[in-house]
Amino acid sequence: MKIISCSHGIHLTKKIANKLKCPSSQIQVSKFPDGELYIRFLTDVKNQNIILIQSFYGNINDCIIETLFAAKTAKSLGAKKITLVAPYFPYLRQDKRFKSGECISIKILAQYMDQAFDKIYILDPHLHRKNKLSQLFKTKSYLLSSNFLISEYIKKKISNPVIIGPDNESYKWAGKVAGILGCPSFILSKKRLTEKKVKITINKKISIKNKNVIIVDDIISTGNTIIQSIKKLKKLGAKKFYCIAVHGIFSENALKRIKKLNVTIITTNSIPNPVSKIDISGIIVEKLRLK
Ligand code: R5P
Repeated sequence: MKIISCSHGIHLTKKIANKLKCPSSQIQVSKFPDGELYIRFLTDVKNQNIILIQSFYGNINDCIIETLFAAKTAKSLGAKKITLVAPYFPYLRQDKRFKSGECISIKILAQYMDQAFDKIYILDPHLHRKNKLSQLFKTKSYLLSSNFLISEYIKKKISNPVIIGPDNESYKWAGKVAGILGCPSFILSKKRLTEKKVKITINKKISIKNKNVIIVDDIISTGNTIIQSIKKLKKLGAKKFYCIAVHGIFSENALKRIKKLNVTIITTNSIPNPVSKIDISGIIVEKLRLK
């Protein structure tokens, strides 16, 4: 087995390979002046089981093309089985036609991935209307969860917690983490007004006075879900605010804007960022060893 990093998996590849005691390598990726990608394997993949590590952040669409090109190239170079480990996998929120004429992006992307990979592992995919990855992918797919790691982090670092999920979709993280910790939790209600604007409402009586409030969600993108939640919750007398998310995308200067509200932010290292303090390499290794 060889662990090979794509351009956005470098931060995890060595850690995973060391834990598995496997050789690792990195594909060479560069861009031609016109924007086309150049991809080259720097290690022999013939008759090998190849594990490609790619987290789809930054220029997501380049990451997709690169990953598909890499998988198909490995196949044509004689690799035996090709597996994708995606700490963050994109387009999962585009899972239905919200307005007529819209593209159901994840459906199309999944078809391409099915053709390219023998197995796919995704950390905390944003499955809202679906429960299982097998409802999206035809190839073997495995879901990894960071809920236990997040719970462990809270147990070690934050006393007297109350967990808040900013919207119904967040129960898979906020509700589960509170369940593991055995602490109180509340789910708020969110209405998405535009791609960037959300409206948060608290429609239940919630008691957070003198508590350490931890907002738990899967993704922070523009940060507006978190910012609007904190603005509402600040009026209820909490002691301190934390926000823990699996995937810290932090578009639109989100990290800086959330920090202005005096909130401690923590994410996993599915996407590298200045607050990615929870290391997920261990759960990836555990799952790869099992399957
Ligand atoms: C969607 O429902 C997700 O769980 C997140 O709440 C959402 O993607 C966060 O987006 P933003 O940071 O842009 O508000």
